[in-house]
Amino acid sequence: MSDIAKLELEGQVYELPVITGTEGEKAVDITQLRAKTGHITMDDGYGNTGSCQSKITFIDGEKGILQYRGIPIEELAEKSSFVEAAYLLINGHLPSRTELRRFSDMLTQNENLHEDMKYQFEGFPSNAHPMAILSAMINASSCFYPGLMVNRPNPARFEVHAARLLSQVRTIASFSYRKSHGLPIIYPKPSYKYTANFLHMMFSDVYQDYELKPEVVRALDLIFLLHADHEQNCSTATVRMVASSQANLFACAAAGVCALWGPLHGGANQAVIEMLEDIHRSGDDGSKFINAAKDKNSGKRLMGFGHRVYKNYDPRAKIIKKACDQLLSTLHISDPLLDIAKKLEEAALQDSYFVERKLYPNVDFYSGIIMRALNIPTEMFTVIFAIGRMPGWIANFKEIMDDPKSRIYRPRQVYMGATQNPFIPMDERK
Ligand code: SDX
Repeated sequence: MSDIAKLELEGQVYELPVITGTEGEKAVDITQLRAKTGHITMDDGYGNTGSCQSKITFIDGEKGILQYRGIPIEELAEKSSFVEAAYLLINGHLPSRTELRRFSDMLTQNENLHEDMKYQFEGFPSNAHPMAILSAMINASSCFYPGLMVNRPNPARFEVHAARLLSQVRTIASFSYRKSHGLPIIYPKPSYKYTANFLHMMFSDVYQDYELKPEVVRALDLIFLLHADHEQNCSTATVRMVASSQANLFACAAAGVCALWGPLHGGANQAVIEMLEDIHRSGDDGSKFINAAKDKNSGKRLMGFGHRVYKNYDPRAKIIKKACDQLLSTLHISDPLLDIAKKLEEAALQDSYFVERKLYPNVDFYSGIIMRALNIPTEMFTVIFAIGRMPGWIANFKEIMDDPKSRIYRPRQVYMGATQNPFIPMDERK
């Protein structure tokens, strides 16, 4: 099988190397294209462009496959935990018992914010969106520890930075929730593990600890695990873009939060629930909305459906849908939005518009239903996604930091603007 691609341009034939990945993906290497041909490529939305070679996560969109460091997401979902999966993504292997204990202890040692950070929260209006607070406070937290602003920390320092970021994102998120609801902040408890501690900081009160039901902790831990990484999605590509300039880990993560916020990306989980609530309020059984979602002029989309890579069912959506049914029946909750979601899915999967475009439920379609069952407010859904995605961002930052040949990301463009425009003095302008 040829590992050379031939390109004919203006009567000349150029040979370009072909790279083959370990899972058989093929890429034409155009690193020398402009130097050889004077041409660049154009790829709106980077749908056909590989920005890097990575060993962290693999997706096969046609087959609906997702693997973290080669391990299928279905196995990790069933047998692992968020903290163990985070270690796997960041370090490249499943931790030994000792390594996991050490990692978990580092998360505990780094769970508290600098006490003066409390005053930073005072500056936000009570209705500030928690994603705005999260991004700002991730950067702010590094100001309290100047050592975190080192752009290329040595491995020992990186380990501390990673543990601090992964642990504190949870603390910042829960503090912003408490602040926005006028509640006193609840500090983390060293005796609690990662996800239980987050629920404690979110929902305990000063008189009584939140009751940590095992099925509730497990459901949220699964949500975090399923969101932990996903190749070069918009927010991870943003983290790598910022990391390529050798900015520090906290600056990269804060940028990732901003990219994730958009409703086409991580903000979709909030948009799905708002869509389902609108449908429920209107009394529509979903059929009117499906028709509107197919009409380009309606400005509506079936949120939680479709994916740039998955042209098959998102494997995470399958797992979350099953977990959803289990959790709601364990907690004896019946949520009309779940019934509407299932009706929408059934209708869409039989509708030629969605079938022809290979639009299937993605990770965001059912995740909001679980978070509602856990009493997590809708405006916190994308924050939950950001907490889950933090290990993936940290792993991608590390992959760039560890690569001595990594270069700053600097895409080209094709200029389509005005040419040869003379400067017109003010009194001659119309
Ligand atoms: C996440 O990249 C990742 O890995 C992301 C993520 C991760 O883990 O990081 O998986 C998380 O972001 C999941 C996606 C969450 N977003 C949504 O659910 C929002 C709704 N979905 C879309 O807007 C859309 O499907 C995207 C943004 C997810 C993908 O957009 P693309 O690849 O740019 O596809 P497109 O917008 O060009 O759509 C192709 C066609 C268009 O119709 P035609 O012009 O061909 O007629 O499909 C239509 C679109 O109008 N279409 C939809 C639709 N999604 C695509 N029509 C109705 N409803 C939808 N949801």
